[in-house]
Amino acid sequence: MQNLEPLLKRNIIMNMKSIHNIIAILFVGIIFIGCGDQSVKKNGQTPERKATRVASSEVESQEEGHDKEQIAVAKKLIASTDTDAVKAVDAKKMFKNYCAICHGRKGNMKINGSKDLSKSKTSLEQRVAQIYFGKGTMTPFKGTIKNEEIIAVAKYIDELKK
Ligand code: HEC
Repeated sequence: MQNLEPLLKRNIIMNMKSIHNIIAILFVGIIFIGCGDQSVKKNGQTPERKATRVASSEVESQEEGHDKEQIAVAKKLIASTDTDAVKAVDAKKMFKNYCAICHGRKGNMKINGSKDLSKSKTSLEQRVAQIYFGKGTMTPFKGTIKNEEIIAVAKYIDELKK
């Protein structure tokens, strides 16, 4: 029985050591998780910042002109619309009825901040996009007037330049 005492002591010491080890492992683990959390936060911030940058550059490109999508739609619209149907439209009358309120009958009135169409350097696609989708205070005409009427009136702007 006397021999058992040191054995027991050793056992207790061993147990203490393993408790120490467990605590040490937990400690390292906590530090690890803590650091991991920080890096997640850092990583989480970067895409957010990127996203806002993308959004503001989109706004910028829309302010500069029509975005590529609108121009692509305009091109498709021009290509898919029957040229005879476009020719059959009374573009002068359409312009008088729908556009003269802001642009004036000759297109040079510039009411409500609208641009002087008799001096417009826009391409046919840009004009069709502008009429179809609208811009700024100019209302979109998509659905209000027919596609062939949009194209006819966009072409009519060339007449205003003469
Ligand atoms: C409610 C007023 C309003 C009506 C109606 C209107 N416009 Fe406009 N239009 C504007 C304004 C404002 C601008 C300038 C938009 C901008 O660039 O911010 C503009 C710009 C344009 C431009 C671009 C000119 C350029 O050089 O950039 C075209 C083309 C145009 N309008 C054609 C038309 C046609 C065709 C119609 C009729 C179907 C029409 N608009 C009806 C207000 C109007």
